[in-house]
Amino acid sequence: MAPPRSRPWGPILSLLVLSPLLIGAPWFTVRKHYELPEPVKELVNPVTSLPQLSEVQILSYAQYLSEGIGYRTVGTSEHALADKWLLGKVQEMKKECEALVNQARVTSGTARKLECEVWRQEGSGSHRFDMMGKRLYKTYVNLSNIIVRVSDGTPEGKEHAVLVNAHLDSTVPSPGAADDALSVGVMLECIRVLTHTPGWEPKHAIIFLFNHAEESLQDASQLYSTQHPTAKTVRAFINLEAAGTEGRELLFQATSEEMIKAYSKVPRPFGTVLANEVFSSGVLLSDTDFRQFELYLNITGLDLAVVGNSYLYHTRKDLVEHIQPGVAQHMADNTLALLHYLSEEGSPLPSLTAGYHKPSTVFFTHLGQFFLYSANTAKVLYGVLAAASLLFVRYTYRDPWAALKKANPTNHYGVWTAQFNGVYAVSVGFLGALLATNGLAAFMHRVLDKNMSWFSVEMSALALYGPPAIAGAFATQLLIPSVPERSVFTGMLLTQAIGAFVVQLCGFGSAVILYLSAVPLLLALVTDHMFNDGPTVSLWTYAAAQLGPLLSGTQVLCTVFDVFVPLTGRIGREAPAEHIIATLVAVTGAYTLPLVVPFAHRYGPSFVLPAVMFLHFTTLVTVGIFSLWSPFDTMHQRRLFVLSSDNITSHERYLHIGAADGAPGLDALVYQISEQFGVPGTTAEAEEMNDWNGDWDILYPFSSFMSPYKIPLPIEPGFVSPFAVGEQQFKVEAVNDKIDEKAGTRSFTLKIVHPGIIWTVVAFDAHVLKWTLDDSPPDEYTRHHVKEGSFYGVDTWSMDMVVKIPEGDKDVKSRSEISINFMGMQESGMWPGKKRDKAKGGHAMVLFEKLDTWLTKHTDDRVDAMLVATVGGVVAV
Ligand SMILES: *[C@@H]1O[C@H](CO)[C@@H](O)[C@H](O)[C@H]1NC(C)=O
Ligand SMILES: *[C@@H]1O[C@H](CO)[C@@H](O)[C@H](O)[C@H]1NC(C)=O
Ligand SMILES: *[C@@H]1O[C@H](CO)[C@@H](O)[C@H](O)[C@H]1NC(C)=O
Ligand SMILES: [Zn+2]
Repeated sequence: MAPPRSRPWGPILSLLVLSPLLIGAPWFTVRKHYELPEPVKELVNPVTSLPQLSEVQILSYAQYLSEGIGYRTVGTSEHALADKWLLGKVQEMKKECEALVNQARVTSGTARKLECEVWRQEGSGSHRFDMMGKRLYKTYVNLSNIIVRVSDGTPEGKEHAVLVNAHLDSTVPSPGAADDALSVGVMLECIRVLTHTPGWEPKHAIIFLFNHAEESLQDASQLYSTQHPTAKTVRAFINLEAAGTEGRELLFQATSEEMIKAYSKVPRPFGTVLANEVFSSGVLLSDTDFRQFELYLNITGLDLAVVGNSYLYHTRKDLVEHIQPGVAQHMADNTLALLHYLSEEGSPLPSLTAGYHKPSTVFFTHLGQFFLYSANTAKVLYGVLAAASLLFVRYTYRDPWAALKKANPTNHYGVWTAQFNGVYAVSVGFLGALLATNGLAAFMHRVLDKNMSWFSVEMSALALYGPPAIAGAFATQLLIPSVPERSVFTGMLLTQAIGAFVVQLCGFGSAVILYLSAVPLLLALVTDHMFNDGPTVSLWTYAAAQLGPLLSGTQVLCTVFDVFVPLTGRIGREAPAEHIIATLVAVTGAYTLPLVVPFAHRYGPSFVLPAVMFLHFTTLVTVGIFSLWSPFDTMHQRRLFVLSSDNITSHERYLHIGAADGAPGLDALVYQISEQFGVPGTTAEAEEMNDWNGDWDILYPFSSFMSPYKIPLPIEPGFVSPFAVGEQQFKVEAVNDKIDEKAGTRSFTLKIVHPGIIWTVVAFDAHVLKWTLDDSPPDEYTRHHVKEGSFYGVDTWSMDMVVKIPEGDKDVKSRSEISINFMGMQESGMWPGKKRDKAKGGHAMVLFEKLDTWLTKHTDDRVDAMLVATVGGVVAV
């Protein structure tokens, strides 16, 4: 007897049969996705005797910078030490390079065409740097860069160069081992390997830019781009960055077809057009030196960064010990391959004169393989797929009611009605998943007060929101029980195939994602049509069609959750983190498991109803478990921003505390800190944040995302801040002051004298007509923020301004007066960056040491605090 055709196996047995695939494919993909090269130790390959990139060497540089020297915040003495160390290092390499050239002359008799040049650039400047929708200006004095050019020594060889960039400085609360000492080490290693490779001669020059001020808002790359003599020769750039410590280095920005092609030559590519399009949309609120090279050099480039385990990014735990083995090797191997390709004969460099643009190339890494093709190829491919899918459904349609021999004329659909119903089922399924996950998200943070419970494990959100996503997709199908399984299957095919074509036509290369899952779906359906004449789709068709989305979906999931989950710890207190993650689970889940919806119709309500109940129950259990978890732990800390402010004009002292995440528990923590450290009898109050609140100006405009608190601090009797009077006085004054009553203008130089204070900022209201910052101050009375970042020891800066004097009844002198909020960080007042020199830091460092110890103990080390002493006030000039 032949087995019954319509229902060969029940849902449980079917899922059991599919389970090796459902578990095995993601498992295999995850392994591939995170695969890193074996770290190399020896500087020279013992077999070939050729120099090789050594991870050990790279990490030893990174360790020296991040631990030997320490926190390299722009303007600190450590930053100056790093500058000096690096200059010594590259000068040593230059000598070696010259020795190698001489040696080649002696041994082979011919001159090796190789030249290494070194510059220490120093300069001052200013630039407008808008971020987070705010207008902002940066000025800098005597900042430096170190530049190494490796070329064949000829003018032709130097005419077209590739720039490779990394930054030597670290941000205030971090020793910056991965960000960006690792990249500095990679660049030094590349110089060594290239110059030591016998006979290597670059056709085109390579410029290594060790830039010394990125975290202060990209001053040094602007300095290089606008003032260095070699800048004009740069045709393309490679920017090396880190926002994490694990996994492959991701290509997340590329601005020409040629550079993507160059990237296709690297040994272990990891980049997709999806990352490129997500990043360039700006949702990540993040920015790199890439922006300066585009803006001031108008050239194309690649932006590469380590992004895995982004929890440590810009925290004190960004240390070499947390950089995963193989990360440095991966970055170095890829960088060297790029440099080889771009400096060799046949390099695209001379032809890269068209500036930068959004590339039309579609590129992606699939299971470690790199693919690239043009937008036109994509349109043809996806167009053909869409047409083939339409033809397939048109000519293979089987009337399910006829097949079931239930001749009920009102139930007979035409082919397109059936497809419409299929697409409808798919759409409401997706909507159901979105609604269910977001419903649970609202419940988690509004009812349970347990938002961000998934924070410490990137993928854990899948466990919390995955079951409700499927339940939502299932439950909505109960509303449309009569759509046949096969129509839902073909509806999915049409949605994806036509979707890929339309998205590509709209100019988004990310359409490839849909293409990758639609192709196996079509192939599986064609096979099913050939070998299965029953009314239901064969289980093997499910397996074959699900393999593609499982493979590409798992890769999307890994990258999306690796990037977005840690990001929710720093996107601000008001951002809807719970909903973002819930939505991402629904979207990436729907992509990875597209056959959930047809599967519901395979068995109908008698299966779906209990399945939904079961998933609800599962959700109840996971919600219970997640509610017990703290979002933060030692390796996944909450970021706390703490300023101890000395106001030298009002003589008040406050502790300001802000956080950058929406997880619960901050209020309680702040009140406890206030009890412990504040003036007895006072309490913490929430600060109103706007452009006129100067308390957080050193972090402006990021500060508006923190909804901070302030706590009054006790002042020792008789205390006078060393920055309030005398030699070290922090002064803001107007010099060369001239009032032109007839024209109604006032011109003056605003002079800021700030010994021992770094990262100064002034904010004021004025109608500026002209100033030295740029050519186009806004033509209105408005608020301005100007920030400074300069080299260690620099203690003055100034800007010239012409302002319009406001109308009014008062005398011209008082009308022309401008009230200026000024503020800066005490160079010796940063914890733990200045721990070794804590005696110099005065009362702020005494407080920080106590507060830090208290925080570690009280929170079980769940908090990473940035502790900075600020000095500021308000003055009328
Ligand atoms: C960049 O250079 C290209 C080619 O020379 C030019 O068409 C484009 O306008 C430039 N873009 C900017 C912003 O200067
Ligand atoms: C997190 O929960 C708190 C209540 O503790 C709520 O006020 C806040 O809006 C929630 N934040 C997010 C991002 O969901
Ligand atoms: C900047 O450097 C130059 C030359 O080294 C020096 O003369 C000048 O005083 C410095 N500027 C400041 C404000 O320290
Ligand atoms: Zn960085």
